[in-house]
Amino acid sequence: MSVTVRVPAKVNVQLAVGAARPDGFHDLANVFLAVGLYDEVTATPSAGGLRITCEGPDAGQVPLDRTNLAARAALALAERHGCDADVHLHIAKDIPVAGGMAGGSADGAGALLACDALWGTGTSRDDLLALCADLGSDVPFSLVGGAALGTGRGEKLTPLEVGGTFHWVFAMAARGLSTPAVFREFDRLGEGRDIPGPVASQPLLDALAEGDPDALAATVSNDLQPAALSLFPELAGTLAAGRAAGALTALVSGSGPTTAFLVRDADAADTVAEALRASGTCRTVRTAPGPVPGATVLDG
Ligand code: C5P
Repeated sequence: MSVTVRVPAKVNVQLAVGAARPDGFHDLANVFLAVGLYDEVTATPSAGGLRITCEGPDAGQVPLDRTNLAARAALALAERHGCDADVHLHIAKDIPVAGGMAGGSADGAGALLACDALWGTGTSRDDLLALCADLGSDVPFSLVGGAALGTGRGEKLTPLEVGGTFHWVFAMAARGLSTPAVFREFDRLGEGRDIPGPVASQPLLDALAEGDPDALAATVSNDLQPAALSLFPELAGTLAAGRAAGALTALVSGSGPTTAFLVRDADAADTVAEALRASGTCRTVRTAPGPVPGATVLDG
């Protein structure tokens, strides 16, 4: 018997970042949108204790030890219920690694849901969300999906209404960026400046609620973008290539280095994707709609 859970990637349509807190984290106003690129986590009983395997184009970059968020999720759930984490977790990875699309968080949320179903531990939604928040700031959103405003360090979620499907193109970069390094660069660039408290943009929330891509394109923002560009200057060329190809807007996804391009419809997505591939400014290009549901158990 095994259980497979499918978990989406995310893009941040707004990422407002406050000053560093005493605990090193930053307060955020983080508007998440789940998009249709997925990892699948399969949990199977294992006599030999916890084991992780991974397949996919980026599999070589995924740690297979207990630093993997999927492993940490299984161990946390086992501890919560006083059982052994005798499970083999297999990750079919399609979300870029260290890409700013919450791929590691997706695996954490997926492992939690898959182990809960496999072990019959019946964890309540609130307890699952608390376990997710302990694993990482973006993990609760990977569980919930759709669209949500994340406050605190991003883990306190308020679901958001979305009035339609938005079409996206994503350009994956040749190398990853470390999220802590990007936040450190944000701090360095902001030294000596007064950084205001992060606030969600009402025009952006209205654009989401109306499902209006032009209005959303006019209001997206990412306070981590200057830091990501400072560490990875070549991303400016990718952003420019997507804009030149007709994207409504172009931005870095989360802490990067994946770049995200909002387009009007699925045809425009294909056109912009083709132009980005031809530009030679990125490793791979994918198209995906959003919002999509969060972590979901697939029928056997
Ligand atoms: O929460 P998570 O473990 O995913 O965060 C990874 C790192 O990103 C943190 O250690 C911290 O350096 C940075 N971070 C932050 N403020 C946040 C979220 C993450 O500084 N709100």
